[in-house]
Formats: sequence, structure tokens, C-alpha cells
Amino acid sequence: MRGAPLPSCFWDSPENVERFAAREPDVRLAELIREYEAPSAVRILDLGCAAGRNTVLLAQKGFDFEAVDSSPAMVAKTRDRLAPLVGAAEAARRVRVGRMDDLGWAAEERFQLVVALGVYHCAQSRAEWVRALTESARVLARGGKLLVSVFTPETDLTGRGITAVPGEPNLYEGFESGRSVLVDAPTLDAEMARHRLIPVEPTRIARPKVEVGRRVSANGLYTKSPFPPPSRPALPRADVVHEPGGK
Ligand SMILES: C[S@@+](CC[C@H](N)C(=O)[O-])C[C@H]1O[C@@H](n2cnc3c(N)ncnc32)[C@H](O)[C@@H]1O
Repeated sequence: MRGAPLPSCFWDSPENVERFAAREPDVRLAELIREYEAPSAVRILDLGCAAGRNTVLLAQKGFDFEAVDSSPAMVAKTRDRLAPLVGAAEAARRVRVGRMDDLGWAAEERFQLVVALGVYHCAQSRAEWVRALTESARVLARGGKLLVSVFTPETDLTGRGITAVPGEPNLYEGFESGRSVLVDAPTLDAEMARHRLIPVEPTRIARPKVEVGRRVSANGLYTKSPFPPPSRPALPRADVVHEPGGK
């Protein structure tokens, strides 16, 4: 249900906040933002910013960034880290507590880049996943880019196995953070295409070595087609009788 509280206690725990704060910025993002020549003119959304490893990078490079996360503790940490760079008031204005499936605070086509790393798979239902992608596509400018990383169904973070939720496509249980929507690379591309998001490069699978379980992600970069979806020719309605020469 839209607006329902999320199981945020997992993400709010001090251990998780510190674990995410200790991470280096994402390598693909660091590479991608080099292509923007005038950072202050580029609006970027960091969706599911966690403890701000990528938001801080964007601030350091001078981008016009905003960030959102459903965990108040993660948001507090991100704001703390940004305060020395942009001031406490600006950090509070730019980073908010909120849900990926309800970006109602952001106007249509507001962002030239949406960074969605490790967040879509946090959807607790297929419906939340669809709403999250719909919202990302809505706030992305035509010709803008969407950087994505999601876990695939090969992922098993605990090593104890995951199980598919019956009747909910792509939904799995077995994660400490709650349920997860998991898709492979072709499915991710197909889901994005439904929102006019076209791959800029082949979507890649990453299988880093981990001590416990498996951590497999699909990593894509998409652009929003500058063209509106093709309008379909109106089909004759089955319940309308077309008489020859009739009006
Ligand atoms: C795996 S972490 C993301 C990491 C971060 N993007 C990074 O690259 O370091 C997932 C984050 O998504 C947030 N999250 C989970 N469900 C969310 C939702 N429905 N809307 C917004 N944020 C959510 C969690 O609080 C957590 O901070």
C-alpha cells in the first residue's frame, strides 16, 4: 500500500548506518559523472542514499543534488556528512526521508541523472517495485540517465537460501532487511523498457567474491527516450457496429 510504513528498523540500526558510511563511493557513478562539464547545472537524485557515500561525492563535485531514503537514521547520517560541505540547512533541504515509490515532492523531468543503486530490490512487493520505477521515470528528464544496480535471484546474502513468494512474480524472502524483488539482467532491461528507459550499454552481472552466501547484481545504465511512446492506431471497438457508408 502506498505510504505504508516500511520495515526500516534493519536500515536504522547503528551497525548498518556505520557499515554503509564506511563504503567508498560507487565506481561506476564516479566514472559517469566525469562526463558532465557543468556540474552545478546538473540536477541529480540519489535514490536510497543510505549513509551518503554517493551523495557526498556529488556534493564534493559541485552537482545540484538531492537525496532520499526511507530510513531516518541513514538520512541523519547523510545530512551530518554533508553539513561541512554545504551547510546544515542546505543539507537538511536537499536530503529527505521518503519512499522511492512516492516522489511526489519532485516535479516531472526534474533530474538529469537518477542514481538508484541497491534500492529497487528493497521493494516489499511487486506493486511497490512498479510504482518505484514509474516514479523514477517520471522525475527523469528526457535524454537523462538512470544508473541502476539490483540484486538478481542468484543472490543469497546469508547463505541460508531464499524462497520465492507464491503468486508474486520476482518477490523473494530470506533477506534480513525483509522481502526483496529480484530480477536478472534481461528482466531488468524489459522492466525498464516499459518506462521508455533504454540501455545505454549492456546491462552487466557482477559476482564479487564474498565470505558468506552469494551477492549477484545486475548493473545497468539507461536513458529516457526523448520521444513520446508511439501512439497506437485506434482499434475499432468490438461493440460498435460499422455499417457500410454508415455514420
Ligand atoms: C543497500 S542500501 C543502498 C545503498 C546506497 N544507494 C549506496 O549505494 O550506498 C538500501 C537503502 O535503501 C533504503 N530503502 C529501503 N527501502 C526503501 C524505499 N522503499 N524507499 C526509499 N529508500 C529505501 C534503505 O534505508 C537503505 O538505506
